[in-house]
Amino acid sequence: MAATFGAAQVLVASNRGPVSYELGEDGSLHAKRGGGGLVSGLSAIGPDTGALWVCSALGEGDRQAVRTGVGEPGVRMLDIPADVHADAYNGIANSVLWFVHHMLYQTPLEPVFDAEFRRQWASYEAYNLAFAEALAAEAAPGAAVLVQDYHLTLVPGQLRELRPDLRIGHFSHTPWAPPEYFRMLPDDIAAQVLRGMLGADRLGFLTRRWADAFTACATQFADGLGETAVGVHGLGADADFLRRRSHEADVDERMAALREEIGPGRRTIVRVDRTELSKNIVRGMLAYRALLEDHPEWRERVVHVAFAYPSRQDLAVYRDYTAEVQRVASAINEEYGTEGWTPVVLHVKDDFARSLAAYRLADVALVNPIRDGMNLVAKEVPVVSDEGCVLLLSREAGAWEELGEDAVGVNPYDVSGTAAALHEALVMGAGERAERTKRLSAAATALPPAQWFLNQLDALRG
Ligand code: F6P
Repeated sequence: MAATFGAAQVLVASNRGPVSYELGEDGSLHAKRGGGGLVSGLSAIGPDTGALWVCSALGEGDRQAVRTGVGEPGVRMLDIPADVHADAYNGIANSVLWFVHHMLYQTPLEPVFDAEFRRQWASYEAYNLAFAEALAAEAAPGAAVLVQDYHLTLVPGQLRELRPDLRIGHFSHTPWAPPEYFRMLPDDIAAQVLRGMLGADRLGFLTRRWADAFTACATQFADGLGETAVGVHGLGADADFLRRRSHEADVDERMAALREEIGPGRRTIVRVDRTELSKNIVRGMLAYRALLEDHPEWRERVVHVAFAYPSRQDLAVYRDYTAEVQRVASAINEEYGTEGWTPVVLHVKDDFARSLAAYRLADVALVNPIRDGMNLVAKEVPVVSDEGCVLLLSREAGAWEELGEDAVGVNPYDVSGTAAALHEALVMGAGERAERTKRLSAAATALPPAQWFLNQLDALRG
């Protein structure tokens, strides 16, 4: 049988796509477009280049859209059965691979790789194969395919078998686990993940550290990298977009409202995160509490503005973590708050304009993840800061490699050390703060999303 080819010259594959659909009460569908590095990267190659984004339907709205033929040009959503998707996304990608790469397990009791894990793994294989088959059907001869993230580690190998003519890249937006942690996976599963990844012509990582960890795993648990090249592309902040967007009227309105909540003349320690286990929000609050304890002079003079937006709420461990963030914030407010001063201002409803407002007015940005692929907040704050902001940055964030010199470094587990760093940040002179912010902003925007994407495409095409 003659192979049939598609028409797309450049293909991107990711679990979450650039658009999602919400079902209205009357059954109508509303499209919501997302932002982020990939969206602006792909737009850089222009609308006429035959690009296609393959993604998964995530909710009922998306499924309805696929079934009724609603869609966007340049996007193909896969209607993978909801139970298969849930096992692959919640069960394997977010509860196993995410935990391995971010080293999140509480190892006395977890992980447990049993029959239920094997059942979910079969779904992960099927979900990856659905992507590989769709890409194989859509790709023009010799097309470039850029597969994204830990959700799709098997796709490069599966696609290579179906379409040996393609140029296949894979990019990890997460850290990669060091060999001693990666080997926690059952041997055959670890080997399968590596085989899948090594089906790519080229693997991309956000930092040298994660790239080296992958290479070490491939060396120890497979036959090395073989024909696969490994490259580092440190995604930067989109300066033009951020500067424009952060001066629109809705952001000014949010700034005024935030200033009201904070109170006149007070300093601000700002954090903005998805409520994600790796972001270390609770220890950040404990460090703030220690600051108020160790340096009572800051009481009534500083406010911790924490935005913790819901994420992966299908998973109980994420729901529990969200509840713990709220509990600790309330406990601090109860213990230290006064008539006119709320020590922690916590918001959990996602609001991008308000995030930008907080970036602009922050005196200190607290970015203290346990482990993070890059952390774009660390890069965005210095770009939009009005008067300079001290960046408190975990040395375990990928961004540390590029920003470490002008940030104040923290060990994310060291609560007392983080409290001391908060004090150091709060007393830093305005001149030094502004100088550091300028250098941080330059480093943070060195590789804008469009260039980040084009560099990968060029390298893949060779
Ligand atoms: O950080 C890795 C990553 O896949 C990012 O690329 C993305 O922003 C996020 O995690 C996706 O999370 P989710 O789709 O589960 O909300």
